[in-house]
Amino acid sequence: MAVDNSAPLVDPYGRVVRDLRISITDRCNFRCTYCMPEEGMQWLDRAEILTYEEIERVARICVERYGFDGIRITGGEPTVRARLPLLIQRLAQLRVPATGAAVDLAMTTNGSSFALLAADLKAAGLSRVNISCDSLRPERFQALTGRGQLGRVLEGIDAARTAGFDPVKVNVVVMRGVNDDEMVDFAEFGRRQGVEIRFIEFMPLDAQGEWSMDQVVPAEEIVEAIGAVYPVEAVVQGSEPATRYRYLDGAGAFGVIASVTRPFCEGCDRIRITAEGQVRNCLFAVHETDLMTLLRSGATDDDIAAAIAGDVGRKWAGHSIGRVNFIRPARGMSQIGG
Ligand code: 5AD
Ligand code: SF4
Repeated sequence: MAVDNSAPLVDPYGRVVRDLRISITDRCNFRCTYCMPEEGMQWLDRAEILTYEEIERVARICVERYGFDGIRITGGEPTVRARLPLLIQRLAQLRVPATGAAVDLAMTTNGSSFALLAADLKAAGLSRVNISCDSLRPERFQALTGRGQLGRVLEGIDAARTAGFDPVKVNVVVMRGVNDDEMVDFAEFGRRQGVEIRFIEFMPLDAQGEWSMDQVVPAEEIVEAIGAVYPVEAVVQGSEPATRYRYLDGAGAFGVIASVTRPFCEGCDRIRITAEGQVRNCLFAVHETDLMTLLRSGATDDDIAAAIAGDVGRKWAGHSIGRVNFIRPARGMSQIGG
């Protein structure tokens, strides 16, 4: 085992940062209403986004210097990037200094191409996958995603299970008057398919800026609606943002992510890097640290490590969605990376 020279990265509120979310592209083949406008997205040029070598370097610095043990690949839609298994293969080789173990390597995807990639990604070393799906009704699904086909995503979910991803999680953003009549349907889908549904409260990151508090379906209401049909109990657990509930009849579990009504900021252990190589210490950060320029001007690993630490040094206690001092980030979710 290699020598452990890592030291934890601790933010001003005493939280240890150990999870890196990497957006590898701003592009997507869908146009989810809460994420992107239907037309007129200005994509970044290829030269403006981090190469796989640059991504690997940043990830290696986080793992080797600071003992990060989790990496999640996001977008945009990560599967639109060519030769994705190559990136996964490289990241899967990183070892957490304290334990010598591989990092927990996860990805969030819209699932539309996952059937084609599941086996290769699994073989490359991807450990876990979350597939987003906000409706089980084909027409509504299409309306919500602009151009998505539900069938393809369901095939992707199936392929994930067949390839051996366990658990497979399905992310559902619940929106009042949009899909809040499908909560029990999703619960049934999860029970039947052996996948774990994660219901997410709708956050003010939609491209159109039309979010309002009355579109948020509180996690508590979701748990009540499902519990009324399938009795559940809360699973006691650590710092995960999701609160998990187990079906009393043994048919699995589901999670709720109460990002708005019960923010999990006090347990936050993550930072993000955008496709353009900007560090963000919060989804709602108003400040970014430019790693791209450093990476492309001959900076040393020490310089890059210091820039990351500097950004973490500015991490705030938490967001304030719903309060008067909340500032909406200038970027939408697809540009920040889920
Ligand atoms: N609120 C909550 N979740 C969102 N996502 C994208 N935009 C929002 C939003 N405004 C979710 C997607 C996906 C993950 C990357 O983030 O559904 O599951
Ligand atoms: Fe694409 Fe995901 Fe945004 Fe939907 S939420 S448009 S699938 S990046």
